Amino acid sequence: MSSEPINHHVPLQPALPSVPHHIGIIMDGNGRWAQSRSLPRLMGHQAGVDNIKRILESCVKHGVKVLTIYAFSTENWHRPPEEVSGLMRLLGLTIQRQLNDLHKNGVRILHSGRMDGIHPQLQNQIRHALEVTRNNQRISLNVAFNYGGRAEILDAMRRVVADGVDPETLTEDLFGQYLYTADLPDPDLIIRTGGEWRLSNFLIWQAAYAEYYTTPTYWPDFDEDELYKALFEYNRRERRFGRVLEK
Ligand code: IPE
Ligand code: IPE
Ligand code: MG
Repeated sequence: MSSEPINHHVPLQPALPSVPHHIGIIMDGNGRWAQSRSLPRLMGHQAGVDNIKRILESCVKHGVKVLTIYAFSTENWHRPPEEVSGLMRLLGLTIQRQLNDLHKNGVRILHSGRMDGIHPQLQNQIRHALEVTRNNQRISLNVAFNYGGRAEILDAMRRVVADGVDPETLTEDLFGQYLYTADLPDPDLIIRTGGEWRLSNFLIWQAAYAEYYTTPTYWPDFDEDELYKALFEYNRRERRFGRVLEK
């Protein structure tokens, strides 16, 4: 055994050369996290909400500028009504409880998804959160709520047609301006917790060239070390965008 003192100045997580500008997270596994503890699924969702803050803070520390979190999909309406209403209530409560803190910490809140179908009172709470935080610049937290990638593309298409856009002038960039994420750069990294290897209708247009990372860890257990592992793996990827890279 070495008698060398442990050097506490050596960082356990060395800084990484490349940090994604925009990360998307499919926060999956809340239900299984709860079931494995014999708790109701909604307690898993509450634990999932509690975890957002720690990962958001860790993203700020790493220098990530946009974090998109998948919170409720257009397909999630097919869950049992109690779970759906529980998830709706949870978003309202979270805005009530967390908005001040998020605002104080310089977080700009954005929403990606359809407002239609959301209870009018919750719609107002969402609009209020966007309005209050709109000038914040530390990090953007984009909440994908009542979000579906296909619905988004359809909504965009409807507006393109309604605007009378000449088909000849329609480009990928112009089309991107009609998406919910109009002002955001595409995600560089998509993380999915809970072990599945699918996108489940998340950012299907925007993630065309994102790196994909999945871990079996359930979302409530996905901590700073788990995020670091994902960022480390991201650094090992060679992003070619269809090109041949000169060595
Ligand atoms: C993800 O966790 C959160 C939402 C879809 C709202 P799940 O509720 O899908 O958790 P599992 O996949 O059943 O464990
Ligand atoms: C994706 O998780 C949606 C969210 C995380 C909000 P799901 O649990 O709904 O996805 P599937 O059903 O496994 O594809
Ligand atoms: Mg799931």
